[in-house]
Amino acid sequence: MSRASGRLTVLHVSDVHATDHGLLYDAVDGLERLQAVGEYARRARITPEAVIVTGDLIQRGNSAAYGAVRDALADLEQTVQAPVLTVLGNHDEPDAARILRGHEKSHHRTVLVAGLRIILLDTSSGALGRVQREWLAGELAEPHRDGTVIALHHPPLGSPLPTLAKAGLRDADEFLDVIEGSDTRAILAGHFHHPLAAHLRGTPVTVGPSLAYHQVMDARPDLISGHDRAMFSIVHLLSEGMTATSVSLESPSPLFSSSVPVPAHQNS
Ligand SMILES: [Fe+2]
Repeated sequence: MSRASGRLTVLHVSDVHATDHGLLYDAVDGLERLQAVGEYARRARITPEAVIVTGDLIQRGNSAAYGAVRDALADLEQTVQAPVLTVLGNHDEPDAARILRGHEKSHHRTVLVAGLRIILLDTSSGALGRVQREWLAGELAEPHRDGTVIALHHPPLGSPLPTLAKAGLRDADEFLDVIEGSDTRAILAGHFHHPLAAHLRGTPVTVGPSLAYHQVMDARPDLISGHDRAMFSIVHLLSEGMTATSVSLESPSPLFSSSVPVPAHQNS
């Protein structure tokens, strides 16, 4: 139980891009990769307080996959014994996504987990919009006991890749106006398909890598290209701040292994 150590663990998964017919780019099975995240957590003996999936649950045009996504998320929840929380991305289809647990009434909401306030936002349109920003301001008006984590698909900044330099949240400045000075401990986002760490107006921002594919980081400035690489992040919320560790689901044979003593409270 990591809360006993004052450390909360969140598995941050993003950009699943599940398909309902065939594999994505003839190679990627997003549902299988969700299962692999659970198996990884079990093997590594990680006991998270929550799993947060920051959008692009399906590949655009594959809305019939939402039923299978819902089942895969329920299986993941079973495996890790923690709530799996989701937000929508630009590939998602808001109407069809209503069948996902937690999305029946609204695609933005607040969930309390282990004393932590997790605010889930909908940027399927590429922006939050005034109504959602005002709702967020109302939620943040009162600080929460162990603080707040905000999850949304679009990062409130651009990527260093020229092709994604303007691909961040369209109303990023207005969003940052709302969260500045609040009890927000971390902003978790996705969308770029490469990890990125930032610190904006006093708040850490972690852009998680994608479960579906990773950007080719040295692609030409006029080209978006992807590697077949499945990754997610382990986020630790500490009393002093936070960490985010990118993990690849590829598991080549280790070069070496040697035993080290691990304190019991650090096994998550
Ligand atoms: Fe994506």
